[in-house]
Amino acid sequence: MNAEPTVAPTAESLEAMLAPLRDAAYTPERCEALAGLIADIDALKRSRNAVILAHNYQRPEIFQVADFVGDSLELARQATKVSADVIVFCGVHFMAETAKILNPTKRVILPDLRAGCSLADAVTGDELADRKAELRKVYPDLAVVGYVNTTAEVKAECDACCTSSNAVAVVEAMPSRHILFVPDKNLAAYVQSKTTKEIIAWDGNCYVHHQITPQQIMAVKEKLPHVKVLAHPECRRDVLAVADAVLSTSGMVAYAKDSPAKDFLIVTECGLSDRLVLEVPEKKFYKSCKLCQYMKMITLDGTRDALRDLAPEITLDEDVRVRAKRALDRMLELTA
Ligand code: 13P
Ligand code: SF4
Repeated sequence: MNAEPTVAPTAESLEAMLAPLRDAAYTPERCEALAGLIADIDALKRSRNAVILAHNYQRPEIFQVADFVGDSLELARQATKVSADVIVFCGVHFMAETAKILNPTKRVILPDLRAGCSLADAVTGDELADRKAELRKVYPDLAVVGYVNTTAEVKAECDACCTSSNAVAVVEAMPSRHILFVPDKNLAAYVQSKTTKEIIAWDGNCYVHHQITPQQIMAVKEKLPHVKVLAHPECRRDVLAVADAVLSTSGMVAYAKDSPAKDFLIVTECGLSDRLVLEVPEKKFYKSCKLCQYMKMITLDGTRDALRDLAPEITLDEDVRVRAKRALDRMLELTA
């Protein structure tokens, strides 16, 4: 989503805009404070020649200052088109690193370095290099496909990256039969269900999606049998089995807009439901109430401070960056 050129909202217009979220936290006092912060951030963006890229899971007030909001693939593509000097990334660390890998001469700022990811923590570059060497003795054709939810060191060990929206296409396009897929075992299982290639999965998971059970989905479906269930492929296989569609976060937005259905159960992190409620007001969205603690580390105050101080800045070893870029470029070429 390309956000509108920002005209700082007033406290009243912000309160009206966020009212559909029924969030008691958006009181008139809070909206007044947020409106002030939004005006400060807009001014800093102009003086720093900066853009703000934001992931779909961010807080609704972050959407108000973002120049672009999207899923991991859209954000990676958008990062290749930035002409500003500074990119402030409102998302998690691996996303900001991806922007830096693609834009070595720009300053990339992540407002809070604690914004990590349980998937990115599940594998290191050294662990992957060891496993790759071991498996290549058995499968000489082995290729490594790495989910973008990985560190730059891990990407540097991969033959290609993928995201939730193109994982099947990337695996299919690789000229190898044996694919080591890191680090999400749930996404690996989903890809395996869609390909005849042999997927060897790493044992990682997203702690947000992995906790969702099919029983929770069925309990909602019992009360609302007509609800369309949209699930993210980071969910367990038994959850995906009861979903009507398996989609990336932006895939869910497109599906909800285009579908004739009116009621949806959104099985992913809650922030996406907030975007849907704001953007598709004529439809009803039931959410799974799962928060990603890492995504929620990013706040408007933190974003204002990051723009003011141009810190914390993402830096990368150049050799790692160049090797990681190869894997990202391969993904962008394979799924252009
Ligand atoms: P998307 O690429 O579908 O937005 O997913 C990113 C992510 O971190 C999901 O947990
Ligand atoms: Fe990582 Fe899961 Fe948070 Fe996405 S929702 S950033 S995969 S921990």
